[in-house]
Amino acid sequence: MSKSNQFNNSIPEPNEYIKNLKSYSAPLENRRNLLRLDFNENTIGPSQKVFNAIKNIKINEISIYPEYDLLKNKVCLEYLKNRNFDIDEIGIFNGADAAINAICKAFGEKNKVFLTTNPTFGYYFPCAEMHGMIIKCCSYIGNNFKFPLENFFESIQKYKPKLIFICNPNNPTGSVISAEKIMEIANKNKKSLIVIDELYEKFYGDSLLPIIDFKKTKNIVIIHSLSKTAGLAGLRVGFAFGNEQIIKQINKVTGPYDVNSFAVAAANAALDDKEYIDNYVLKVKEARNWIQEKFESLDIRYNFNGGNYFLIWPNKEPQVLEKEMKDNGILIRNMQNKKDIDQSVRVSIGVMEQMKIFWKIYKKLDQ
Ligand SMILES: Cc1ncc(COP(=O)(O)O)c(C=O)c1O
Repeated sequence: MSKSNQFNNSIPEPNEYIKNLKSYSAPLENRRNLLRLDFNENTIGPSQKVFNAIKNIKINEISIYPEYDLLKNKVCLEYLKNRNFDIDEIGIFNGADAAINAICKAFGEKNKVFLTTNPTFGYYFPCAEMHGMIIKCCSYIGNNFKFPLENFFESIQKYKPKLIFICNPNNPTGSVISAEKIMEIANKNKKSLIVIDELYEKFYGDSLLPIIDFKKTKNIVIIHSLSKTAGLAGLRVGFAFGNEQIIKQINKVTGPYDVNSFAVAAANAALDDKEYIDNYVLKVKEARNWIQEKFESLDIRYNFNGGNYFLIWPNKEPQVLEKEMKDNGILIRNMQNKKDIDQSVRVSIGVMEQMKIFWKIYKKLDQ
C-alpha cells in the first residue's frame, strides 16, 4: 500500500502534509529526580517569588479566563534595561514552541522555501512541513561549526525563501551569527520574514533586541522564552517581538487564552526578579568555564560555543554513554540522527555543583 493510501478505511484522512509528517518527539518521560543535563532547561528551578505567586494565586484567576495586560506591560516597559517596546510589538505564547508554530502558520506557504541551518532545533522542521513548505538547509562549517554565511547568502539569492529561521546561538552547536550580519540579511531581503530564535542568547550576550527598531526593520521576529533562564519550562511562556503588523498576523492564528493563568502569574513574578535570572546565568557561565577547562585536559573532541550546553564526542558509543550516565542518575542527550554530529552527545550546563557531579561520573565511565 502506498504511503498516501495507508489511511484508507482506518481513520478519516488528515491533511496531505500531516499524513507523512514525522512528528517531533523527545525523550521527555521519567526525568524527575535525575540530574537533567539533557534539555538545556534551567537546572535549579525558578525564583522563590515565582513559587509564592503560584501558591497565592486567587480562586478568581483559576475560574476566570486569563488576562495578559499586566504581563504585556511588564515586558514592554521592563524586559530590557534601556529599551521599551510598544505593547503591539509583543506576542505572548505557550512557550517559544507555540510562537514558532504560529509564525509558520501565519507566514508559511505551500511550495515556498523555508531556509535554515542544519543541525538546528528540530521543531522548526515539522512546523514548516505542515504547511507544505520546501525546506532548504545550510551546513555549519568545520570542526567549530562556524555559521555558513556565504552559503546562506547564496541560498537566499537562489531560493528567495519566504521564511528564514536562524537559531542564535544555535541549538545544538552553539554557533553564532553577529547582529550586523542578521541586519544585512534583513535589509537585503525585505520579502523574507527572518525569525531569530534567541532562546540561549543570555548565555552568550549578543541579542538583537536592545538595538533593533521594529518600525524600521519590519521583517525580523525575535523569539525568547522563560524556559532556559527563569526556570519556567513546565509552565510554558515564550515571547515573540516584532513589527506590530507582523505580531498582529501571528496573533490571528493563536487562541485567545492559550497561555494559562498560572503561567501568567509565574511570568510576572519571574520578571519581577530579574536579578535571580541574571545570577543564574552568571552561575552557568562560571560552571561552563570550569567544565571547559576540564575537557581541555582530555584527548577527545569537544565543542563549546554560545548557549548553556556543549558537545562531546565520547570514546564510547554515544547511546551507550547516555544509558550508563542515566544509570548513574545523569541525563544527557545523544545526537543520533543529527547531521554532522551524530557521534556526539549534548550536555547542558548547570551550576558548578552539578557540573562537578557530571564530571566525576563522566570521567569514570568514558576515560
Ligand atoms: C532553540 C530552541 N527554540 C525553542 C525551544 C522551545 O522552548 P520553549 O520551552 O519556550 O517552548 C527550544 C527548547 O529546547 C530551543 O532549544
